[in-house]
Parts: sequence; C-alpha cells; structure tokens
Amino acid sequence: MKTMKEVPALREFLRMCRDGWEQGWHERNGGNLTYRIKPEELEECRPFFKDAGPWKEMGVTAENMAGEFFITTGSGKFFRNVEDDPEHNIGIVEINGEGSAWRIVWGLEGGAKPTSEFPSHFMNHSVRAAATGGECRVIYHAHPANLIAMTYFVPLTARDFSRILWKSATECPVVFPGGVGVVPWMVPGGAEIALATSELMKSYDAAVWAHHGLFCSGPDFDTTFGLMHTIEKAAQIYVLAMSASGGKLLQTISDDGLRAIARDFGVTIREEFLE
Ligand code: 13P
Ligand code: ZN
Repeated sequence: MKTMKEVPALREFLRMCRDGWEQGWHERNGGNLTYRIKPEELEECRPFFKDAGPWKEMGVTAENMAGEFFITTGSGKFFRNVEDDPEHNIGIVEINGEGSAWRIVWGLEGGAKPTSEFPSHFMNHSVRAAATGGECRVIYHAHPANLIAMTYFVPLTARDFSRILWKSATECPVVFPGGVGVVPWMVPGGAEIALATSELMKSYDAAVWAHHGLFCSGPDFDTTFGLMHTIEKAAQIYVLAMSASGGKLLQTISDDGLRAIARDFGVTIREEFLE
C-alpha cells in the first residue's frame, strides 16, 4: 500500500463519512465517527504514522481501551470535506496504558484535534466492547432531523421512543430489538454526557440525545450506518404520519404483532417495553 487512503479500514471510514453527508445528517461540523482499529489493520496503518504528539488527558478512563488505536473525525471538521482531505479532517489516535489519554499518530494535520465528543465515543467503545465480547468497533454520532424532531413531542423515555420506532416500520424490531436509550438534554462535548450515555449503552446499542442527535454502535461500518439509517427512517415515517394525520393515527402494529415478528425472525425483543 502506497498511501493511507489505500488501507481498507480507512477507505470504509471515508465512505461512511460521505454516506452520512449525503443523507443530510452532518450540517457544518455536525456529527462524528470513531473506529477501533483491529490488530491486523494497525500493521497496515503503521508505515504511515508520524512522530506521536503529546498525550492529552480525556477526563474519563476505561482500562479495557488501554493501548487501542482509533480512527476519529476531527473537532470542528466537516464530514463534507473528509474524503477530499483526510489528513486534515480525520486522524488516528493511540490510547495510553492507563486508558485515560490519547495522542495523535497520524492525520489531524494543522493543529486539529479529535472530535469534542471523543470522551463519549471512548466510553461507548468501552462499554459496547465489554457488552459484545469485543465485537463492537464503530461508534457513530449524527444529527438526523426527524429523530431530533421527535424529541420535542415524544416523552423522553427509552420505552416511549423504542415503542414508537418499532411500530413505525415492520423491520425495526428486527434491526434494533433492544430498543433505544434516551439521554435527557445535556451540554455536549464533555465527561458528564459521556458517562450518562455510556451508562445507557451498557444495555442499548443506540442512544438518543434529546434535541441534539443519535449515537449508534456496531461491529462494522455497514451495521452501524444501517442502524442509524433505520432509526432515522422510522422517525421520518412517524413524523410524516403524525403530520399528515394531524396527530391522530388510525392504526399501528400491535404489541402482539411485535412479539410475532421477534419470534419469526429469531430476535429477543425488550419484553419490558411491551404491553
Ligand atoms: P465536533 O466537530 O467536535 O465533532 O462536534 C460536532 C458535534 O456534533 C458535537 O456534538
Ligand atoms: Zn452532535
């Protein structure tokens, strides 16, 4: 491989940034993406590494992420520009032996830094890796408009959001049978929202940020992008149906219908949210 852009993991990362931009989920610098690099991929990336920058404490600690390497979008960088100029808009960071600090080993040129949501991504990686036996590798934050709109008129509970989204499209209970967590409105970009989100991500693979956006996790780029896409599509259908009907839906999928889908598709739906 002659350039970093030829490394398959990096190519997939760039493609996901473009896909998210094309969906309209990343106005200006909105949203961020991180990927925990596999050991064999790290060897493909290493020839392109530069002299490491200084360690920067994150304000959060996760021992199971010590020594890991992440591809991350840059803070204040636009998804729209990532593919044309990866070196300035994204980078690779190494985590220290305590799991408390990062340093830049590739990219983020010109004084750029990892996303301001890196503490949330990092803590979500930690709890999702623990919950999935190390399978989870992608954390994705976007600003999809319909899901955000729902946070203004649906009660901010995991039960309300999960039930509405499951019933908005028949495939939803198959794609996210565990439902979605909901974080109340908080100031973004710090340790507090990182800890609140990662607490929910212990048992959800997606979490809504009220009046802000959505966090999704998954083992690979396809699954994680697909989860974001499916949740936002369900939100869009709900918002359309509510708007077109003046808020008076005539019918929907029954709870027993949800159970039947889960049974036939072999997934375990979060029964505590069903009636
Ligand atoms: P960054 O530009 O720091 O990634 O922030 C964007 C964002 O969506 C904050 O929640
Ligand atoms: Zn955001």
